[in-house]
Amino acid sequence: QFVRTKYSDRIIEHYENPRNVGSMDKNSPTVGTGLVGAPACGDVMKLQIDVDPSTNVIRKAVFKTFGCGSAIASSSVVTEWVQGKTIDEVMGIKNSDIAKHLALPPVKLHCSMLAEDAIKAAVRDFMGKQQQPQQQQSL
Ligand code: FES
Ligand code: FES
Repeated sequence: QFVRTKYSDRIIEHYENPRNVGSMDKNSPTVGTGLVGAPACGDVMKLQIDVDPSTNVIRKAVFKTFGCGSAIASSSVVTEWVQGKTIDEVMGIKNSDIAKHLALPPVKLHCSMLAEDAIKAAVRDFMGKQQQPQQQQSL
């Protein structure tokens, strides 16, 4: 007999119809890219945001995930959540929020962690690009 993990309808729905799959030019000054890997399983997630630099509002978010269904569903949910929010707001997203929303089983909690890490890495990448002109001025 197989040991089966029971997945919620939301996981299956996002896995079958993932939102915002795609990629943007990582060299664009308004695009932040987060590329993270899960040590627990080797899965990789790339999440990108396009930010309006005058308001810090995320105009667009896309992802590509080479990983399990829970990781795909987690990244899909995060891209939906962050659009229209400021980068400060999305830094408050916790993997437990994602896990709760999708009702992830305990063995899949690290998949939602990957999505939290990816969005934070994307914001940091964008912020790093904004600081560059100031550094040049102070040289
Ligand atoms: Fe898609 Fe909630 S089911 S964000
Ligand atoms: Fe590793 Fe899901 S099993 S990201």
